[in-house]
Amino acid sequence: MSGVLMTGGSGRLGRELQALLDLHCPPRQELDLLDPASIERALDRLQPDLIVHAAAYTDVARAERDHLTCWRVNVGGTQALVRAALKRDLPLLHISTDYVFWGDTGGYREEDPPGPVRNYYALSKLAAEAVVVALPRYLIVRTSFRAREWPHPAAFHDLYTSQDYVDVLAPELALAIQHFGDIPIGILHLASERRSALELARQRRPDVRPASRLEAEVALPADISLNSERWKQLKVQWTS
Ligand SMILES: NC(=O)c1ccc[n+]([C@@H]2O[C@H](COP(=O)([O-])OP(=O)(O)OC[C@H]3O[C@@H](n4cnc5c(N)ncnc54)[C@H](OP(=O)(O)O)[C@@H]3O)[C@@H](O)[C@H]2O)c1
Repeated sequence: MSGVLMTGGSGRLGRELQALLDLHCPPRQELDLLDPASIERALDRLQPDLIVHAAAYTDVARAERDHLTCWRVNVGGTQALVRAALKRDLPLLHISTDYVFWGDTGGYREEDPPGPVRNYYALSKLAAEAVVVALPRYLIVRTSFRAREWPHPAAFHDLYTSQDYVDVLAPELALAIQHFGDIPIGILHLASERRSALELARQRRPDVRPASRLEAEVALPADISLNSERWKQLKVQWTS
């Protein structure tokens, strides 16, 4: 890995990755996904060998009210980035989400068919994946993370996930970026072990009380966990 340009450097994941790796992260004023010319300019200036695409419209609730912006950023923006990468024969590592799955059976593997999706954000992320596969060299990394602290007084005992805290998963994602060239082209699931949201919450906030996902205002998945066996096998060779 030499020059890596990452979009979304100011985001939750982007900030953690910047603390771990030497990355070029143009701010939105210099690389706006809604402005293809700014993407071209940033790539010409920085001349990266790899693009990590971590920027996205991530506000799930707002996306329901503003389909257009969500789609333009997540699908149109990814398409503009892919076009610019194609022109320069650049590879791209795309950050995607567990929410491309419906979330009833859990344990999703890379080869499982995605969808249907539960919300507009998830739809746009699924469409973005379809855009990325136009590249000859790409890696779609599906993951799921949350802020360093559990923010709520309660957590669902009946919602299973392989999500983890961003400071736990960022080093894993950094390893994937460093070893981009050693990972087969395609999709990679990179998450933690399956457990309930309550178990996850109690790791950082022991006094969290149990709640049921059935009490939530929106329909939530019962088990959205990803199977990360492929990743575990891959990384053994770099970490042992
Ligand atoms: N958080 C999760 O639970 C989760 C789970 C699975 C996957 N993901 C994926 O992981 C990635 C990072 O998520 P995150 O939670 O770290 O995101 P985040 O904190 O919401 O940050 C979003 C990033 O995207 C940038 N961005 C938004 N619109 C842009 C535009 N038009 N042009 C350029 N940059 C733009 C933002 O820049 P500004 O600072 O300028 O707004 C910010 O750096 C995303 O692809 C997301 O879909 C997230």
